[in-house]
Amino acid sequence: MRTPSENARLVDQAYREGATRLECGPSILTIESTSICNLRCVMCPHAIDAVQRPKHMPGSVIDKLSGVLALASEAQLHGIGEPLSSPAFWSALENPAIHPDCNLNINTNLTLLNDRKLALLLGVKARLKINVSIDAATERTYARIRGAELGEVVDNVRKLVAARGDRQRPIVYINMTLMRENIEEAVPFVEMAHRLGVDGVFFFQMNHQPPEQMERYRIDRDDWHFDYTQQGLWNFKTLSNRCLNEALERGRQLGMPLFPEGLAGLFFDDVPAVTAVAVPAVVQEPPAEAAGPTPGQANPEPRDCRAPWEWSLITTNGEVLPCCYGAPPVGNLNDSSFEEIWNGEAMQTLRKSLSENRIPKACEKGICKYVLNARLAREEEEFRRSEADKAEAERRRGLRGLALAGLDLLRRR
Ligand SMILES: C[S@@+](CC[C@H](N)C(=O)[O-])C[C@H]1O[C@@H](n2cnc3c(N)ncnc32)[C@H](O)[C@@H]1O
Ligand code: SF4
Repeated sequence: MRTPSENARLVDQAYREGATRLECGPSILTIESTSICNLRCVMCPHAIDAVQRPKHMPGSVIDKLSGVLALASEAQLHGIGEPLSSPAFWSALENPAIHPDCNLNINTNLTLLNDRKLALLLGVKARLKINVSIDAATERTYARIRGAELGEVVDNVRKLVAARGDRQRPIVYINMTLMRENIEEAVPFVEMAHRLGVDGVFFFQMNHQPPEQMERYRIDRDDWHFDYTQQGLWNFKTLSNRCLNEALERGRQLGMPLFPEGLAGLFFDDVPAVTAVAVPAVVQEPPAEAAGPTPGQANPEPRDCRAPWEWSLITTNGEVLPCCYGAPPVGNLNDSSFEEIWNGEAMQTLRKSLSENRIPKACEKGICKYVLNARLAREEEEFRRSEADKAEAERRRGLRGLALAGLDLLRRR
């Protein structure tokens, strides 16, 4: 059996060669172990009941993933739900096929921890990274955003850190999804992370969605009204940049690593105060995460997309997707084996098209940087062409004008 690093080398080689049929498996897996959640955080689709038919991933689907789990270098075991609530999450975690070198990542609200679950988390042989979503440094803000008690989740983080002792496994991070309501708690959040003895802090921006989507999120909680459109920090760029800079500085003072999810995406660079953000020494590269658009790469071309060679996303319904940016499913584990889907016609077509530097037809409605960039390039080309057409029409009008003037002159002679 190949190891994850041998598999990753084959993935790399297959991508570079533009192979369409692969001997290797994906090196990155995203497994949506559940779409059920016990909380209703205001910015999450669960808050507006927008998660369709929430369910735990059936055990039969997880069973079909043993072969690929054994080859994965990275596996994310959560989607839009709470992994600790899901039997599928626990059976994936305990799957003996997972290699000890595999990086297993989860985001969790950690509200459902108990002694049994704690023991299971501590027993994981692979490199487990637990990123606890907290979003607040005060009870009031936590209750507003997450609708639960901060004290409970903080106690659970403390238990987790204490139970792992000197082993430093699992790795524990805490994170904030930022908005107007919590941005001023970024510094206290770093201080809380330091007090709790976790391994680092992640900051994420709330997704800037199309207006009609954001307008759906208007939520009354106690004496507070949440309006997604207004809470977005794109409305408060200077404040956001200042608070984040202060948080980075506090992290540096305390020796608390901060992993802003791609600085380019986190800081607003179109307001003057920010551009000066220097990456402090304590900011380290985030651990390798599932593939996806890395902000900042200029003009990415279709051939730069590695997803169909290295990544697979599996939903609770057993659907297999090549990425999470809008490409449709390429198969379903309820109908076929993973191997059949991985080298099936749909996947081979994606690989062929990308290696020929063309956006695959299936991806045309996607929102990844490759599709967006290709769309932009096409629009620019169309614009250039129409400008060229206009100039040509102008030139012809000019020639015609000259010709008519010539005729006129001849006639007048
Ligand atoms: C959907 S949750 C699922 C895992 C788990 N239930 C949790 O809260 O961590 C994964 C991450 O998405 C973040 N999130 C939720 N809604 C978001 C939004 N509108 N924009 C950006 N991130 C969001 C959460 O804060 C969390 O860190
Ligand atoms: S805990 Fe996670 S999945 Fe649940 S509502 Fe909050 S952000 Fe969404």
